Amino acid sequence: MKKIKIVKVSDENLVSAIEALAHSIWREYFVPIIGSPQVEYMLKKFQSRGVISNQIEKQDYLYYLLADRDSNWVGYFAVIPQQKELFLSKLYITAENRGKGYGGCALKFIETLARDNGLPKITLTVNKNNTGSINAYKKLGFVITDSLVTDIGGGFVMDDYKMEKTI
Ligand SMILES: CC(C)(COP(=O)(O)OP(=O)(O)OC[C@H]1O[C@@H](n2cnc3c(N)ncnc32)[C@H](O)[C@@H]1OP(=O)(O)O)[C@@H](O)C(=O)NCCC(=O)NCCS
Repeated sequence: MKKIKIVKVSDENLVSAIEALAHSIWREYFVPIIGSPQVEYMLKKFQSRGVISNQIEKQDYLYYLLADRDSNWVGYFAVIPQQKELFLSKLYITAENRGKGYGGCALKFIETLARDNGLPKITLTVNKNNTGSINAYKKLGFVITDSLVTDIGGGFVMDDYKMEKTI
């Protein structure tokens, strides 16, 4: 199994590391899927330092960084415990580290977190055109349960599938 370190984000330096990873991963991966204007809008609205700190302090988000055995950041994820499920809000692995088992390791940790909180399922949303990640989530045991279009302002919508995994 892949050696991985999972670090809970608890201070400003770690929040800055998330912001840097988000900016680089989103610009690399999502521009071909949703276009640059929407990526820049979403980074500012959801993944800038101040917003991430607010999500952690006031909106029940739990952020975690993923590091390889040499302590290099390889990605991050965020979950929000809800009444009957754990919502996986974000899971992003850097391009050079995809397909190496990090996402699967993160999911095992997330499943334990859900069980420890008495939550029987994990839910997430994924862009309908993000075929690679939809297929990865299917391999990891998720199924599509719904189709959602969410207005995020600025003239943009998120056109997503909802997926879930019962644990
Ligand atoms: C989706 C993502 C988080 C998966 O993490 P990962 O570390 O690449 O995945 P893993 O290497 O742990 O692979 C997990 C399983 O998915 C499969 N898989 C991974 N990427 C895949 C792809 N693009 N297409 C099909 N299957 C894929 C693997 O083969 C593995 O299956 P197995 O357990 O049967 O061998 C990662 O690829 C990623 O960050 N993608 C870009 C950003 C993104 O879209 N994030 C999700 C937003 S909702």
